[in-house]
Amino acid sequence: MGDKLKVGVLISGRGSNLKALIDACANEDFPARIAIVISNVRTAGGLSHAKDAGIPAAIIPHKEFSTREAFDAAIDAELHRAGIELVCEAGFMRIHSDGFVRKWLGKMINIHPSLLPAFKGTHVHEQVIAAGVKVSGCTVHYVTPELDSGPIISQSEVPVLNGDTPETLAARVLTAEHKLYPMALKEIAEGRVRLTDGCVVRTG
Ligand code: GRF
Repeated sequence: MGDKLKVGVLISGRGSNLKALIDACANEDFPARIAIVISNVRTAGGLSHAKDAGIPAAIIPHKEFSTREAFDAAIDAELHRAGIELVCEAGFMRIHSDGFVRKWLGKMINIHPSLLPAFKGTHVHEQVIAAGVKVSGCTVHYVTPELDSGPIISQSEVPVLNGDTPETLAARVLTAEHKLYPMALKEIAEGRVRLTDGCVVRTG
């Protein structure tokens, strides 16, 4: 267990991606383990997944901080206390300060429910349906200061079907997310993927 990559997961809500990561980490051979879950929302459903798995959780409500920098400093302190080597954002709904992102550059990843660079931001599935595209999906990427724009680690395609609503499409994409995120984490934890000079480098 000692040589597993120590991961911190940031959430704000339901936490189904957190659950997928917890389930993957439950496998003895998986090369990462979640050492802390941090939520900015006290009532986030995902906190129950951490509790059930016996993973320490910290609640850091953004409203208690007067600046983005102070909020991020509290998160940073918690991550350091837990000895975190990689941060996984999983439905974390706050934008970080540039300083925090720079500090964790190459050591912080996110999952987004579209095929980036298309359809950044929020209300993603509404955007996808309004655009009339036939293929959507999800993306795991390194976090950089510009929202949803960091170097792409991996993607998974999902069809957009006739009659899809944002809800039906979201559910189909979410199923793909739950496979993609643990796979990306595994690759990073095995040292097969890293960020070098702003590019994703894959070996082995
Ligand atoms: C996911 O669709 C993820 O791609 C996006 O926010 C959603 C979080 O869902 N960033 P959950 O909290 O992991 O269930």
